[in-house]
Amino acid sequence: MTELIRKKRGGNALSREEIKYMVEGFTAGDIPDYQMSAFCMAVIFKGMTDEETAALTEEMARSGEMLDLSRFGSLSVDKHSTGGVGDKTSLIVGPIVASSGGIFAKMSGRGLGHTGGTVDKLESIPGYRTSLEKDEFFSQAQRTGIALIGQTGNLTPADKKLYALRDVTDTVDSVPLIVSSIMSKKIAAGAKNIVLDVKCGSGAFMKDIESARTLAQKMVDIGRACGRNMAAVISNMDVPLGFAVGNALEVKEAIAVLKGEDISDLRQICLVLSSELIAMIREISAEEAYAAAENALDSGAALAKMKEWISAQGGDVSLMDNTDKFTKASIVYELCSEKDGYISHMDAELIGRAACELGAGRKTKEDKIDFSAGIVLCKKTGDSVRKGDVLAVFHTSDGEKLENAKSVFLSSLAFSAEKAECGNLILDVLK
Ligand code: URA
Repeated sequence: MTELIRKKRGGNALSREEIKYMVEGFTAGDIPDYQMSAFCMAVIFKGMTDEETAALTEEMARSGEMLDLSRFGSLSVDKHSTGGVGDKTSLIVGPIVASSGGIFAKMSGRGLGHTGGTVDKLESIPGYRTSLEKDEFFSQAQRTGIALIGQTGNLTPADKKLYALRDVTDTVDSVPLIVSSIMSKKIAAGAKNIVLDVKCGSGAFMKDIESARTLAQKMVDIGRACGRNMAAVISNMDVPLGFAVGNALEVKEAIAVLKGEDISDLRQICLVLSSELIAMIREISAEEAYAAAENALDSGAALAKMKEWISAQGGDVSLMDNTDKFTKASIVYELCSEKDGYISHMDAELIGRAACELGAGRKTKEDKIDFSAGIVLCKKTGDSVRKGDVLAVFHTSDGEKLENAKSVFLSSLAFSAEKAECGNLILDVLK
């Protein structure tokens, strides 16, 4: 392994055999975390060729079991986000697509770096089982059209270990590491139709449109080469999605959208992502698929589907009707503005980091998440602010965390005298 680290550190490409050796050794526990961390850091600086990335993706996909979803014909769907702040889209897209005829049998991740993860969010629903035996996963997906679990030890164990390691060694934001992490899981999880939400902006791992496009295209190409129908939506992550950042707070916001609340950016992106999948399974135009997604949301069908799903997976479904029953932080603090003006820019990554400071994310692999912790924004880019206005509400169970979180949050904001434009939400769609 030291030779491979040296080779990559020197900017050289590894052969498929070397990548296979490394993935197998790491999965089996023969290659220790510290060597794998050093390798990832070398990749951050030196990158990987397309051949290396494809080999790493395939070897990671093969590191465990590969699911066969052919029993669902062409109806199996999956979605994956490259990671954002306040990104609770799976909780809305899943029910929309499942209530429109798709089979959303999905494996989701935990938080990574400053970004949240769907599994952590779902664990804030008491009773929700994020791990199901394979038979139960399949039969629930068949019966209800939706099953969503955490990454099991059986599927892509190499990514499971690597993901946790990258999270705490600051080796996330590398195109080949993200491509192989996401696409190994998608290929092993077996869905025929896949939509990727590639985030771009201050809160994303890809900060500019060129790198987001490169990432999106590489994932689409790998998926297609493996026989999947692929679409990638490149979306703006310069501001958090919706208003809530933090696990239980985000689930509550997702429920609000399913109940018809018009949280415009969140609703819009969910409709776009859903419509890409609906267009694939029904073989209809993008416009017809968008209308079908809107109908699923506005008719209440998606909300009913979410209840069916949460209840099938053991979650306390009464929280859907009464979201006050979600776990609450003991400290709720209103952060007020000390100046007048307009918010001209938000660094969404810092907002994600401020939420982590409050307890919503992990700093070490062993950290326990405080599901009630997080931030609810009251102002976003383009909003006018008067001195004394509440900028955001902080939720935490540990008062000592407030000061640090406040200063990280405030450093995320820039003010101007003139109203600033917020960019488009959907930046591109690659098919
Ligand atoms: N999501 C993943 O699953 N993996 C990454 O590397 C980044 C986002």
